[in-house]
Amino acid sequence: MSGNISFLKDVELGLSNKPKFISSHYFYDKAGDVLFQQIMEMPEYYLTNSEMEIFREQSETIIEAFSMVPTEEFELIELGAGDGKKTQHLLQALLQKEYNFKYIPVDISANSLQVISGRLRNLFPGLNIETRQGEYFQVLDALFRSPNPKVIMFIGSNLGNMVDEVAVQFLAKISRHLKSGEKLLLGLDLMKSAEIILPAYNDAAGITRDFNLNLLKRINREFGADFNIAEFEHVPEYDESEGIAKSYLKSTKAQKVFIRDLGRSFDFDEGEKIHTEISRKYNDMILNDLMKGTSLEIEQKFLDSRKYFADYIINKQ
Ligand code: AVI
Repeated sequence: MSGNISFLKDVELGLSNKPKFISSHYFYDKAGDVLFQQIMEMPEYYLTNSEMEIFREQSETIIEAFSMVPTEEFELIELGAGDGKKTQHLLQALLQKEYNFKYIPVDISANSLQVISGRLRNLFPGLNIETRQGEYFQVLDALFRSPNPKVIMFIGSNLGNMVDEVAVQFLAKISRHLKSGEKLLLGLDLMKSAEIILPAYNDAAGITRDFNLNLLKRINREFGADFNIAEFEHVPEYDESEGIAKSYLKSTKAQKVFIRDLGRSFDFDEGEKIHTEISRKYNDMILNDLMKGTSLEIEQKFLDSRKYFADYIINKQ
């Protein structure tokens, strides 16, 4: 089934549901990728700077926590390669300490992999890098056939876009792949007050709004829908006790939206919302809860100076 057909099916399913929902998975087309890059530059989106500070200041200690023997070849596998700007600090530390390693960024987008490998090859001509395009676990199945020791990286609080049940399955799969003593480097945004978290999902320049609305533009572009973007608002929410930021698109009036490729329309009440994203925030207890039933355990935690963000070293028992 092509990506577009599953997207179309998910749109039909989500817009027929009460409450309406569409997965944030579909934010990331070409326009969405550009908008997300811009979000990461926004002063309110502290996540990037916080994690960057951890990598800039503490990479030497982080790589020691991998517990790898410098002369023995290991594989550093990064799930969701991004732009590589944070990882480059880690790579630099590994190269400086003359570790024998291969860096393997994994991503669904061939284009991002090309960009990241070009950038990193330029920066570090001696880097042993091999990109892998595909769905994370298909790639991991193939990679884990090799006997070399491995470290898996999953940073940027990407886990936070999964509902807890999915995050549990994700961590359980990682746990099954790793051998005893191997590590997962997991970057997570921490629970904190709404005054800090809400603006990160509602920047003054309106980039996050455009990022959310791009989902409707994408449905218009790809499936011939007639969403009037001016009649939908970006609505972010954050519940401090639950620790989950949620984004919605709210219809500002009662209206019908027609989707050509589905041959049908969908009714919206005034004020009716489409739920589009969750961004979970964490603490040790929540993470331990998600890893219950796996052989994963928190071994070390690296924080930024404001304690907004944590990069966890997770050990496979
Ligand atoms: C990719 N992910 C971790 C981002 C987040 O913070 O949940 C996506 C994002 N959504 C709105 N702003 C950024």
